Amino acid sequence: MSDYWPKHDMEFLAGRRLRRTRASAWSRNLVRETVLTPSDFIWPLFIIDGQNERTQIKTMPGVERLSVDLAVEAARQAAAEGIPALALFPNTQDDRRSENAEEAYNPDNLMCRALSAIKEAVPEIGLIADVALDEYSSDGQDGLVRDGRILNDETVHVMIRSALVQAKAGADIIAPSDMMDGRVGALRAVLDAEGFEDTQIMSYAAKYASAYYGPFREAVGSGSRLRGDKRTYQMDYANSDEALREVAQDLEEGADSVMVKPGMPYLDIVRRVREEFNVPVFVYQVSGEYAMLEFAAAAGAINRDASILESLYAFKRAGASGILTYYALEMARKLNA
Ligand code: PBG
Repeated sequence: MSDYWPKHDMEFLAGRRLRRTRASAWSRNLVRETVLTPSDFIWPLFIIDGQNERTQIKTMPGVERLSVDLAVEAARQAAAEGIPALALFPNTQDDRRSENAEEAYNPDNLMCRALSAIKEAVPEIGLIADVALDEYSSDGQDGLVRDGRILNDETVHVMIRSALVQAKAGADIIAPSDMMDGRVGALRAVLDAEGFEDTQIMSYAAKYASAYYGPFREAVGSGSRLRGDKRTYQMDYANSDEALREVAQDLEEGADSVMVKPGMPYLDIVRRVREEFNVPVFVYQVSGEYAMLEFAAAAGAINRDASILESLYAFKRAGASGILTYYALEMARKLNA
């Protein structure tokens, strides 16, 4: 080698051998910048009516909708692995969906029954209740629809009523995922007025109008109802400064933590929000991301477990305080093993 590699180049390399710390597993562990633990995970669960019922979601192989009794079991398992919180999403019975989404504030709706059953059986796990109308309305939009338009303030009124029944049923965190303006301030005011001043608000602050939500809409049964898209309220994926305005506004209105959604295609947003605001920032690895990993792995294109782990580390590296992921239980088990 020395025949054709001048000695001064070797000297130049001496202080620049970045491979030195990568040479063995112990050394890689030693210099690792981020860690992933089960306490980074929030596990989304889909709830269905009935007893001892579980149904498959075609576009999310490995994820099932669970009846309340089975969700309680799942919550027990999650708590045992050190997962701090669950995020619940109801697949409301068809005959309970309506134009005005009245089921959203029925104190005996599926969401409330799941919240109170889990809170009673597994009090040590945090419960995050999604607030949006798509899970209760007949048209799959997150807001009330009139003449093809999504009404902002009227939607917020329904959301307030919805959040109150959820808080009463045992929700620890109210998570508005609708992207209406002013809903965080309205929720905070009403929760405080009704004696729920300790109930947190985790706002889906930078939520993009994304094609990656497809499988979720199958899971909650809103997809086939949805006409049009959600671009008049969810964010344009071409924008990033606007995400900071959304986050600033929600924090000013009283959000305790904020979320960026989807996850992997939006790591730049996670990083910017993290650097700009000194608050907990959560990221949602959404259903379409899950589906991409599963179907690519099933086709033999990628190594499943390695790809999942890499995706979760990427969120932590980008600055996420925690990750909503359908892999929460499986990965918590693997990390604890
Ligand atoms: C609806 C809601 C959606 C998701 C969470 N809450 C879908 C949407 O906005 O259409 C998506 C989550 C996922 O894709 O995993 N309020």
